[in-house]
This record gives sequence, C-alpha cells and structure tokens, in this order.
Amino acid sequence: MTTPAAVSKLNTNLFIDGQWVPARSGATFDVVNPATEEVLAVVADGAAADATAALDAAVAVQAEWAATAPRERGEILRRAFELITERTDEIASIMTAEMGKPLAEAKGEVAYGAEFFRWFSEEAVRISGDQLLAPDGKTRYFVQRQPVGPCVLVTPWNFPLAMGTRKIGPAVAAGCTMVFKPAELTPLTSLALVEILAEAGLPDGVLNVVNTTDPGDVVTAWMTDPRARKVSFTGSTPVGKQLLKQAADNVMRTSMELGGNAPFLVFDDADLDVAIGGAMAAKMRNMGEACVAANRIYVQSGVAEEFSNRLAEKMRALTVGDGATEGVGVGPLIEQKALDKVVQLVDDAVERGAEVKVGGDRPEGDGFFYNPTVLSNVSSESDLMSTEIFGPVAAVVPFDTEEEAIALANATPFGLAGYLFTTDLNRAFRVSDAMEVGMVGLNTGIVSNPAAPFGGIKQSGLGREGGSEGIDEFLEVKLIAMPQP
Ligand code: SIN
Repeated sequence: MTTPAAVSKLNTNLFIDGQWVPARSGATFDVVNPATEEVLAVVADGAAADATAALDAAVAVQAEWAATAPRERGEILRRAFELITERTDEIASIMTAEMGKPLAEAKGEVAYGAEFFRWFSEEAVRISGDQLLAPDGKTRYFVQRQPVGPCVLVTPWNFPLAMGTRKIGPAVAAGCTMVFKPAELTPLTSLALVEILAEAGLPDGVLNVVNTTDPGDVVTAWMTDPRARKVSFTGSTPVGKQLLKQAADNVMRTSMELGGNAPFLVFDDADLDVAIGGAMAAKMRNMGEACVAANRIYVQSGVAEEFSNRLAEKMRALTVGDGATEGVGVGPLIEQKALDKVVQLVDDAVERGAEVKVGGDRPEGDGFFYNPTVLSNVSSESDLMSTEIFGPVAAVVPFDTEEEAIALANATPFGLAGYLFTTDLNRAFRVSDAMEVGMVGLNTGIVSNPAAPFGGIKQSGLGREGGSEGIDEFLEVKLIAMPQP
C-alpha cells in the first residue's frame, strides 16, 4: 500500500489553543484504510483531561471572538473555502484512504463541504434583528441575536469533511468558539481542515480538536461542564438520545442530526428513467452509507418487476474496489462491523423470501467490500425494513395504492428524508405533504445542498443545518426593552 503524501504530511496531534499537542497520556491510536485493512496513520488519543483543556481554550477566547466584526469572520470562512477548493486533490486522497469512498465521490464531497464555508461566509454578515413598539405604545423592544457560546461539535465518519464544515461554518459565522470531536474512524480529514482554518486566520482557541477512541469520556467531559452552551451532533439516534439527556442537566441548546430509514416511493406514472437515476443516487451515494440513503424502496406493482430488473442492471455495471483506483464506483464499507451487519441483513431478507436480482455476497480478499445488491419482493418483516442498512443494498417492495404507499412510508419512528417519483403534479404535492420527513426528494435522489435546511423530524433529530436556518442554531435571541420616550 502507498500512503497518500497528503496523509504523511498531516500533524496528527490534538489541536488545542492553536497548538498541536500530544494527548496528556501520550496514547495514540491507528487509523485503518478500509480498502486494504492496513494502518494509514497514528493519531493522538485524547481523554477527559485533554477535553477540559480544549474547553478552557474555547471559553477563554469566546468573548473576544464574539466581538469580532462579522465581515472578518466571514472572510476567514471565505479564505478557508478557497484553500479547501485549491487542495481538492489532497483532501480527497485523505478522505478516500481513511473512509473508502471512490476518489470522484471524495472530490464531490470536498466541493460540497467547502460550499458550507462559502455559504456561511455570506450568512455571517446577514445576522439581523428586529425592533417593535409594544401594543400600548409605552415600550420599545430591540430583538438582537448573539452567539450562543462555546459549542461541542461531534461528527460522524461517513462524510468526514462536509459534516465538519456544516457545523464549523455556522459556528464561526455566528461568533461561537468550539470543541470538536471528529469520528475516530476518520480523524484525518478533520486534521487537514483544522490546518486550513488556522492558515485562513482563525484565531487560536476558537476551534479545538480532540480525537479519541473513547468518545464517551471526552464528550461527557464537555456535556457535564456548564461552560459548554450548545451541542451539535450528527450520528446515531441512540447516541443522540444520550446526549439529549446529558444536555438536559445543563439546559444546553441542541442540534441533532440522527438516523434515518428513508422511504423511496415509485408510482406507476413515474418516468422510470428518472426513478432509476434517482434510486442510484439515493442508494449508492457513499456506498449507501448516508442517513438520507434510500432504505426502503416501495414500487407500485405494475412497474415493480421492471424497476427491479433495470436497477439490477445498473448495479451490475458498477466496479467494486479500492476507491483510490481509477474507474472504481463502489468502495469498501467503513469497518468489519459494518460489513457483518450488511451480510446479516441481506441473509435475513433472503431467508424471509427476498429474491436476489444481483449481488447478495462479498468479493474475495482484503477490505470491507460488499457487492452492489438488489433484492426484490422483500418481506416487510425483514430486519432491513426497520434498520438503516448503511450499505449498497437496494430492498424493493411492491405496493398497490397511494394510501398504502403513504402508510408504509410513515410506518417508522424515523423521519429524515423521503423520496417520491411521479409525473402527476397533484399526487406529488399530496404525497409530499403526507410524508412524515424533514426532507422530500421529488423526482430526485439528492436533497442535500448547503443552501437548503437539512434535518429530520420524529426520532431523526432536532434543528436544521445549512440554509438560512443553519446559523440560527448557533445564535440566541436577546431582548432589550426600553421605555418609549
Ligand atoms: C448523511 O445523511 O449522513 C449526510 C448526508 C448529506 O449531507 O447529504
């Protein structure tokens, strides 16, 4: 294996108060390339004492940072956007090596991730307020918005750049300082990002990074410290619930982007070319390792067989392999545990009567690979109907009526994204309105964009990231009342 030059150049220590420092315990951990199972880098392994030092640094500069001019904060983000964009190839090579996604997708994520900085560089100078006169005419009210204070940011491994920039961008724009714990499976992209932010002029202490193999220890140190005023988390619903319980003790602000179980509805009046393209995007982006991935594909009976066959044809054409190799369309899953889960979910569906149209197995050799798979006539009792698959497996289930499709779509405690394919405009709005999700892809398999509010309802989360809503999550409303002269 050749380690990408960009990985070898990284400083892999903790980043606290503008300094690269080893963990106080001296501990380190290995980062593994999921395509080769070889060690890619050795990273400082922080613990509670490092976490507290990081929060000390964030707290110390909060007031000064909040007082910087919005334009200055915006320009730091803008410079960071430009540096990320200039270094697309380097960052993509780090991301592919630690996370597995094919290089072309990694470059796509670099563009997506960088755009959060450009978007929030523009939002930084648009933090507005309001003023009003009381109904009795006696008091004037000024409504201002201020940074919420030091924030705890916790990000997942599946989008190692974009999930960080989606939180750091609005926090910087709002004037908040941060303590940041990237996922332990993919810490390297975040280290590259920190270097860029420092180079772009982010003052010492504003962003502090603690990588760790013991997230409970590090994050609990922050969550139980009343100086931390907000937590923004992307990850699983069970962990989100624990953080919400911890947040309650100090009444912290929370943003939670949690698990999904996205329904993907194809009606018999849909343009099947569009629906197949949408399914490929919603299922295969990131090898299916996205919270917004199509998890349950419901297709109206008249077109279900044709849809499954055509989807299988597209999936069969994909090349599986190390994402660093030219022409590879499907990289490995993140780790052995993730692969075992996918194997188990497919086996369970097949035992319950699903037909394997393509795939259903893994290639020989090293790496956590699973072949692109289409299962048709999947029983609604199958475990993958109620579990986020997080793998390249499309589970197709036929339905008969619109009412049935809506009921199936909503029969889950989750409500992140949902997809709908139809050429009937009335049905498009009727079903979009009825779907219990935060985001609907209407004749498209991609809903995400830095300019659009991303987030879920039900057990998929609280709050929104991106859009004009994204910065509100990092701002408090302050009311100033004065007698009307
Ligand atoms: C996720 O669902 O894991 C994030 C995906 C996105 O930002 O599109």
